[in-house]
Amino acid sequence: MRITGRTRLAGIMGWPVAHSRSPALHNFWLDEQGIDGAYLPLPVRPEQLEQALRALPVLGFRGCNLTIPHKQMALSIVDRVEPLARRIGAINTVIVAADGSLEGRNTDVFGFRESLRESAPDWDPVAGSAVVLGAGGAARAVVAALIEAGVGEIRLVNRTQARAERVAEDLEARPSRMSIHPWSARNAALENAGLLVNTTSLGMTGEPELAIDLARLPRQAVVADIVYVPLETALLAAARQRGHHAVDGLGMLLHQGRPGFEAWFGAPARVTRELRAAVVTTLAAPR
Ligand SMILES: NC(=O)c1ccc[n+]([C@@H]2O[C@H](COP(=O)([O-])OP(=O)(O)OC[C@H]3O[C@@H](n4cnc5c(N)ncnc54)[C@H](OP(=O)(O)O)[C@@H]3O)[C@@H](O)[C@H]2O)c1
Repeated sequence: MRITGRTRLAGIMGWPVAHSRSPALHNFWLDEQGIDGAYLPLPVRPEQLEQALRALPVLGFRGCNLTIPHKQMALSIVDRVEPLARRIGAINTVIVAADGSLEGRNTDVFGFRESLRESAPDWDPVAGSAVVLGAGGAARAVVAALIEAGVGEIRLVNRTQARAERVAEDLEARPSRMSIHPWSARNAALENAGLLVNTTSLGMTGEPELAIDLARLPRQAVVADIVYVPLETALLAAARQRGHHAVDGLGMLLHQGRPGFEAWFGAPARVTRELRAAVVTTLAAPR
């Protein structure tokens, strides 16, 4: 990379931010296409988020991504928020408009949808229910993507029932489409399902394992885990062993970066085998 007087800038704000794989992702695309641009990790304390976001146009940045803990707070700072992101209650992408105003988007919905489309092209949204484990920030994006895909029934399973109820209230388009299930009923919720998605942090390195029995899940069901450290979670390994089509969390991570990159750098961003390999090497590296 060569920094010139005209280098286009973007980055990711988080606290901490060193764990983020987004610099590896965006700088791969910049290098691949020979674009005069740079994507930087930006450690920003929560109490300075507004100052940092307002500094983007001042410093000539095209925009940024947001990671923990900024995704919700940023929504109330930017000048415009796309309606879907407002319903989800979080933004992960900011685009600086020509007049210096800030537009907030949530590209996790796009990321999950595209990952599923790429990795499980034969999955039929209306063929069976979708079971979503978890009701946190990522679950909201996954549920929004499933509603958008036209899934007939979504079974939301979460440890804290009130949180799942809020997801249903905020996102549900049609009242009969979503049902809430207690965590203890997760095995039974798999009956007749066509898709299982883990959006909890269980199974992630450093977190407890996800304890679930897949016995009632029909063999043709697709199993997706959005956890990507490790890439092959115990859930995905168990699913593959039973013959399910398994979708890992890296696809969502890679695809969610595309809309931001295209807006900031004005070039298409493709998810390729080479990109995947480059980002996978960062998953093994200590953070
Ligand atoms: N692939 C991607 O691009 C991508 C994107 C975003 C996030 N992620 C991953 O998705 C995971 C969740 O992220 P998030 O932002 O949604 O986190 P979050 O908002 O903190 O939500 C965590 C979820 O996990 C549940 N949970 C945590 N510990 C549990 C336990 N011991 N038993 C049962 N449920 C438990 C929580 O249940 P309660 O509501 O009961 O607390 C909640 O539903 C993380 O691993 C993250 O890395 C991946």
